[in-house]
Amino acid sequence: MEITNVSEYQAIAKQKLPKMVYDYYASGAEDEWTLQENRNAFSRILFRPRILIDVSKIDMTTTVLGFKISMPIMLAPTAMQKMAHPEGEYATARAASAAGTIMTLSSWATSSVEEVASTGPGIRFFQLYVYRDRNVVAQLVRRAEKAGFKAIALTVDTPRLGRREADIKNRFTLPPFLTLKNFEGLDLGKMDKANDSGLASYVAGQIDRTLSWKDVKWLQTITSLPILVKGVITGEDARIAVQAGAAGIIVSNHGARQLDYVPATIMALEEVVKAAQGRIPVFLDGGVRRGTDVFKALALGASGIFIGRPVVFSLAAEGEAGVRKVLSMLREEFELTMALSGCRSLKEITRQHIVADWDSPHGLPAPRL
Ligand code: FNR
Repeated sequence: MEITNVSEYQAIAKQKLPKMVYDYYASGAEDEWTLQENRNAFSRILFRPRILIDVSKIDMTTTVLGFKISMPIMLAPTAMQKMAHPEGEYATARAASAAGTIMTLSSWATSSVEEVASTGPGIRFFQLYVYRDRNVVAQLVRRAEKAGFKAIALTVDTPRLGRREADIKNRFTLPPFLTLKNFEGLDLGKMDKANDSGLASYVAGQIDRTLSWKDVKWLQTITSLPILVKGVITGEDARIAVQAGAAGIIVSNHGARQLDYVPATIMALEEVVKAAQGRIPVFLDGGVRRGTDVFKALALGASGIFIGRPVVFSLAAEGEAGVRKVLSMLREEFELTMALSGCRSLKEITRQHIVADWDSPHGLPAPRL
């Protein structure tokens, strides 16, 4: 059957993957309220399209941290992609560069920074988890720099792993034929089987719970790469991130895998954008599955978005071709949304092009949803 939208890959992945792997990719924390809300919240934002504008030419290009990309749709870090497909992160890296966009490689990738760099040219960011052993962190950041990665996405929402009950039930662990390649030489590449989630135990043992804003400063002393703070969902923290020297913010709730009952990222976005006051760019991830979602995020002030699960699901279904297809479907849908809204370039997308159900009852009546 022909695939016509990004979400369809999830059912195919579910059929193809072992239950332990599918559940790890798909699930969220606890009641999965935020997981559903990340999607549902987009449906509380409607369009106010402008008509009779010449939309024969649409320009979706943009610049992220000075790097020109083909569209404001990028790839979030998702761990352990070789569980989805033997080519794992290699396939994702190739698909991202073919689409002219940015891939973020997870610290917990099953391919190393060097291996991903060897796939060819491409603009890539490296996602960092801060280990207790700071020598490990410093070495890894240096390797990412050397391998040509252009920014660090520092994940700040994971001092402990969220309670993902499917992983607990399945006793999730990295299959024995795979390793967390970035840590292989450091003897931290394997995950023991535990009598709950093997990943939760790994995090409890290795990840630094003391991580704080002073470490964002510390990171700047060991690298000249720009730092994106990934996992901000309040205005208060956005302000501190600006002061701490972040180059950008990613509004993220970790795909609803950490603290349940945090708001959908699209609901938190505007508060963060206001607090950042245009000093640094704000990005969003969480639940983006349609070109219309991308448009809504940009209308609320995001400079771009990242996708997580669509990458692993399409990778499981069709490898590199699947990831390419996801990126091209989102691109085409986003282009169509721009055309039908009367926007020819990203800067023409404004807050006036949408109405959210939290908008004031003055002006346009807020639709009852
Ligand atoms: C993630 N995410 C994540 N984030 C991170 O900083 N480091 C990581 O290693 C991972 N690994 C990971 C694995 C899987 C299977 C998922 C689903 C997510 C979170 C990810 O970067 C992103 O924030 C969300 O996935 C975005 O939400 P959607 O697009 O999956 O709804």
